[in-house]
Amino acid sequence: MKKTYLALTVAALAMAGCSKPNNYTPAAGASGADIFKAACLECHKIENGKIFELAADNASAAAIAKKVTEGGKIMSSFPNIKGEELKGLSQYVIENSKVK
Ligand code: HEC
Repeated sequence: MKKTYLALTVAALAMAGCSKPNNYTPAAGASGADIFKAACLECHKIENGKIFELAADNASAAAIAKKVTEGGKIMSSFPNIKGEELKGLSQYVIENSKVK
């Protein structure tokens, strides 16, 4: 897990200004898997079929959606992923993550 975060941090720092909004906009009706591949995979790898090991209080579609909308210290925000596409993406992330 530590290793993953180091890799993430390095990847994020390599792209200057990463915590700014990313204006990626999914096609209408794009699946969660497609959106993940297009917008998230560059920083979040899928290892052993799992994306995250989520703490229980972060393991809800609502928490994932909030993270995508607001971003983080390093993670960009994605204000243009919304509605059905945001729901589908959040569901996909939950279904493919492990809950600690
Ligand atoms: C530029 C690299 C980058 C991209 C692109 C990115 N993330 Fe992140 N993400 C991070 C980093 C770094 C963290 C942890 C630190 C932070 O929040 O800034 C993180 C944290 C998260 C977390 C919290 C994980 C936990 O353990 O609680 C979720 C959920 C998440 N990202 C989902 C996504 C989704 C979904 C996408 C695609 C829409 C995405 N991220 C795109 C870099 C990225």
